[in-house]
Amino acid sequence: MNPFDQALYDRVTATFAAQFGYSPDLVVRAPGRVNLIGEHTDYNDGFVLPCAIGPSTMVAVSKRDDDRVEVIAADFGDAKDHFNLQPPLERNIEQPWADYVRGVISALQNEGHALSGAQIAIAGNLPKGAGLSSSASLEVAVGKAMLALTGTDIDNTRLAQIAQIAECDFVGTKCGIMDQLISAQGKAGHALLIDCRSLELIDAPIPDDVAIMIVHSGVTRGLVDGHYNERRRQCEAAAAAMGVPALRDANLDMLAAASLDAVTTARARHVITENQRTLNAADALGKSDLAALGVLMAQSHASMRDDFEITVPAIDDLVAHLQNAIGHQGGARMTGGGFGGACVAIMPLAMVAEVQTAIQKHYKTPNGDAPLIMVERPGPGVAIL
Ligand code: GLA
Repeated sequence: MNPFDQALYDRVTATFAAQFGYSPDLVVRAPGRVNLIGEHTDYNDGFVLPCAIGPSTMVAVSKRDDDRVEVIAADFGDAKDHFNLQPPLERNIEQPWADYVRGVISALQNEGHALSGAQIAIAGNLPKGAGLSSSASLEVAVGKAMLALTGTDIDNTRLAQIAQIAECDFVGTKCGIMDQLISAQGKAGHALLIDCRSLELIDAPIPDDVAIMIVHSGVTRGLVDGHYNERRRQCEAAAAAMGVPALRDANLDMLAAASLDAVTTARARHVITENQRTLNAADALGKSDLAALGVLMAQSHASMRDDFEITVPAIDDLVAHLQNAIGHQGGARMTGGGFGGACVAIMPLAMVAEVQTAIQKHYKTPNGDAPLIMVERPGPGVAIL
């Protein structure tokens, strides 16, 4: 285990032992993700290009002989939750983190899985509210762990779908499949081009001399975001008005002919153009054409800013500094659901130090602090350690 994972492993097992008085039966790790391009396309049946990253959520679990589930969350001041497996599970209004655990357990039960009671400790090293999928990684880890306790293993794509159901139906964020699917199916050294309609995963190797840099703007977004669901409704309205099942099936000519209101048109234009950019970006990556990738990332950011309206001024500022520092040797854009969070940049490995220095010099978070900068290689998906 690398030192970064080892420190988290030690923390989650120590939390478990301190709370429950013995060592856990097993520990599951599920990674966060960064999306290189393809934003708000997943729930429109479109294409995304994410990779799993090093920071993750780990859950340490043991089986109980009864129906009781006891949970402790190291990252929320050792906050605790407990409930009985008897369906239907209720939400825990006071502790939003607990709903990701309850939601996955509830979704597994609805799928017909007979689960056992459990003791669970949770710890992660993903920055919260950074748009790097700390909640999806928690869902995937809990799902894998709860199944493993009864000796059950299911296909990781199915696991991701169950985790997505938990988030949509239990937590109430009408998210797409990207975050859960890449956390479950991530592949070391690779981004994955995901067709969110067929759920086909196509390997997109990241060359060894290419760096993925993630910079957290310091603007955090809430866990359940009303803006997100609103965007989804606008996309669905646009698709319905054009008479197609999803915006994946629309093109700019159809959009022009549809005479929708200006806002709905702009939302649909983002998704239609972003789908094509994502396919083109996978192509550019395959040819190690970082200049072309950079142009597509810049277009993606502008489209998120102007058409989808999900960026904030601090993020636009950070992206501009990244783009200036990288020039034509790569690119940068906001990553994730929006309204804050992190930016992703791609560049030759040899440029990392120089770009880091430029960002530290030019960008401060809203609190006046230096931003958190991470340099990542794509890592593997969920695993029992
Ligand atoms: C969030 C959602 C994803 C996806 C992105 C935007 O991360 O969970 O399903 O829609 O936003 O691309």
